[in-house]
Amino acid sequence: MTHLVELPKDWPAEIGEQPERARWCCSQLEMGNILFFPGIPFELPAQALEFLLTQQQSGARIHKNIAYRPAQNRLTGYAGGSPEQVARLREIMRLYSQRAIQFASELLAPYAAHWHVDFTSFRPQQEKGRQIRESARNDLFHVDSFPTRPTDGDRILRIFTNINPSEPRVWLTSETFDELAARFAGSESMPLPRNFAGLRRAVLRLAGAAGFKSLARSPYDRWMLRFHHFLKAHRDFQANGPRTRWEFPPNSTWLAFTDMVSHAVLSGQFALEQTLIISRQSLQLAEKAPVKILERLAGCTLTLS
Ligand SMILES: [Fe+2]
Repeated sequence: MTHLVELPKDWPAEIGEQPERARWCCSQLEMGNILFFPGIPFELPAQALEFLLTQQQSGARIHKNIAYRPAQNRLTGYAGGSPEQVARLREIMRLYSQRAIQFASELLAPYAAHWHVDFTSFRPQQEKGRQIRESARNDLFHVDSFPTRPTDGDRILRIFTNINPSEPRVWLTSETFDELAARFAGSESMPLPRNFAGLRRAVLRLAGAAGFKSLARSPYDRWMLRFHHFLKAHRDFQANGPRTRWEFPPNSTWLAFTDMVSHAVLSGQFALEQTLIISRQSLQLAEKAPVKILERLAGCTLTLS
């Protein structure tokens, strides 16, 4: 099960002299715990937050969230505003992305040299009662797996900030991936993954190297995506699985490996989030990574690289 580890707002400032604290934070995350800050541990201008609170999302049934791609400085999922509004929103999300990444590079220094910066998101919709297809629902327990961005065994780390001035963001967490794998991996509906034949692996590896990342889905990525859908559709686990309820108050920040922490978002509106893909080479507790857990159970390699 997941525990909440609360840290003081000034924690990162001390990290420079004490690298063992950064390793401790990494280890807490890798054990399936949530690092929680009761405030926003980096600077975000008040006017920027006020602007975000006035935004409503367009095409909500098509796009889950408004996404920002830091590498291309590109905004998607937002089509409602004037060119000035679009530019302002992009600028604010760029700022959040930069500050959150800078903060994480101090808090979790061992990861920073090899991580890949993924998307930033803004979630302006009320999660409670949201009408959306089952595989996209946030209010059902799941561990994250991205259909279009396979990680090949690397880890999905997410930084969340609740910018709602009055309402908490409410999560449930259940068992962590190691416990879920012991419960479900190898069952009739979730047979253990198998390695691809040599030729297929070689072709997929070439596709990845040539830039067709979404095609280069390893046996690990295929199993994790299937498991994401399986767990959301598992009525008994959703209704009766063990659970802990967390309320993340206004202007708080939390971090978790969401491929390890099973989570369901019950309610809340207006959150910012930054995703970082952490190289499995830089983990402190590599044996606890989902890919290692599955490889132990399956008895074979499940990655392309
Ligand atoms: Fe999720």
